[in-house]
Amino acid sequence: MLPRRPEPCLMVIFGASGDLTYRKLIPALYDLVAARLLPSGFAILGFARKPKTSETFRQEMRRAVEEFARSRPIPIDTWEDFARRLHYMTGDYNNPADYRRLQQELEALSPAGRSNWMFYLATPPEVYRPIVEHIGSEVTLQRQGGWTRIIVEKPFGHDLDSARALNQHLHRWFREDQIYRIDHYLGKETVQNILVFRFANGIFEPIWDRRYVDHVQITVAETLGIGNRGSYYERAGVIRDIMQNHMLQLVSLVAMEPPAEFTADAVRNEKVKVLKALRVDTSRGDGTVRGQYGPGVINGQFVPGYTQEQDVAPDSTTETYLAMRLMIDNWRWAGVPFYVRSGKRLPRRVTEIAIQFKMPPLLLFSERTANEIQPNLLVLNIQPDEGISLRFSAKVPGSGENIQPVIMNFSYNALQTPVPDAYERLLLDAMLGDSTLFTRHDEVEASWSVIMPVIERWQSGQGSFLEMYRAGTWGPKEADDFIAADGRSWRVL
Ligand code: NDP
Ligand code: BG6
Repeated sequence: MLPRRPEPCLMVIFGASGDLTYRKLIPALYDLVAARLLPSGFAILGFARKPKTSETFRQEMRRAVEEFARSRPIPIDTWEDFARRLHYMTGDYNNPADYRRLQQELEALSPAGRSNWMFYLATPPEVYRPIVEHIGSEVTLQRQGGWTRIIVEKPFGHDLDSARALNQHLHRWFREDQIYRIDHYLGKETVQNILVFRFANGIFEPIWDRRYVDHVQITVAETLGIGNRGSYYERAGVIRDIMQNHMLQLVSLVAMEPPAEFTADAVRNEKVKVLKALRVDTSRGDGTVRGQYGPGVINGQFVPGYTQEQDVAPDSTTETYLAMRLMIDNWRWAGVPFYVRSGKRLPRRVTEIAIQFKMPPLLLFSERTANEIQPNLLVLNIQPDEGISLRFSAKVPGSGENIQPVIMNFSYNALQTPVPDAYERLLLDAMLGDSTLFTRHDEVEASWSVIMPVIERWQSGQGSFLEMYRAGTWGPKEADDFIAADGRSWRVL
């Protein structure tokens, strides 16, 4: 298949002096230019309050590319091709006059007076509202010709009400098909591969249900702490930072029905159905275990506890670890628990989805060997060792009836094909007008609806207690007891 190439467009990045622009957006855009996937009419206009010239911006972005781009070293002609596309303007997010200047700047950069405009919200969410309103009222109101799109970064709202309010505000100025709500997990190759694995193979889908699956475990584990994002994380916790978005996206991709066609709306319709049938199981307690890391050792290095981190209250009760038991009330999944867990400062960075199948209904072998039989296990490794493995039982060679579990493994490394960064894929898709890997308004609201009851129980003091765990361990001991109460255990990773 030929590489997809978007039409020329101008991308305005609000908050272009920030961390996301430096570490992710500019390196990804450089990689797209280096791979010749963007047309010559593509350009970037950074907008932020910090005063600087376009030339200073280019110098800073050169460092960003050197540090974070995938395609390195940086050939001089590729850099020059990229640098000539970079522009910067200083402006205040609340000042209408600055948006009128922005509009003039965009017109000036537009070849022959018409082109396509993409706006990227890369500021803290507090400033999304004025930016959206001023783009709508000052920049694009009189626009004719060319498309206009807007990319909105996470977090999308702080709770269900604020997410709804943000959706309504966006819809005042943009149609839904112009809005691209980003969740970078959907841009990861291995996350996209969940759909290919499920629906491009004939042998897995028939057994992908409650008749054959015992339970599903999804782990999003990080060794990182919260870095310098204390003030954000204090308000978010892992429930808003990972569970509401990345984790529920993984659950919906694993659990969704096959869409009738591979279009943005068909795929997202199926995901929404899963989210609407999903609930945190409160048949025992509130269905959660939450924890917060104390000081500990990771990779041989001492690390401070959460409450000693910058911009964190010494008596903070924000959770940095959460395990939940989810149930999906539909014909395919009724009765199959989905155990999900995510935490900061765990021993390994690993994201994986494990589908554990039921034991064979009849064990034909002697009792001694029967004890050695383990259920089939299919593991989708999302990161860092991207791949898929399947565990099954095989006979140990020899005259006895000994059986052992063996693992069949596929690793993406074996393909030796470079894996693009999630932002490369997502930025390119947004420019191409493909919103399949972006979250629709009802999807984001449905995922808030799943976790709001948990947040409300915690706020009313009725939910699980906050347990402590040592940094560098797999979360609080209560998480082991939680799954053990169902006769199961977390995978050892
Ligand atoms: P930053 O905190 O670095 O902010 C980006 C820019 O926004 C700053 O350089 C600043 O520019 C402006 N800004 C900061 N605070 C305010 C404020 N209170 N009012 C107005 N302007 C402000 O954020 P990031 O770049 O890290 O993230 C941007 C967005 O992307 C956020 O919504 C974040 O949640 C999201 N995100 C970030 C990720 C990351 O890896 N960094 C990952 C996933 C999502 P100036 O002062 O020059 O105007
Ligand atoms: C971000 C969260 O959305 O995802 C971070 O805000 C987290 O807290 C990050 O570290 C994890 O992303 P990845 O791609 O490193 O798994």
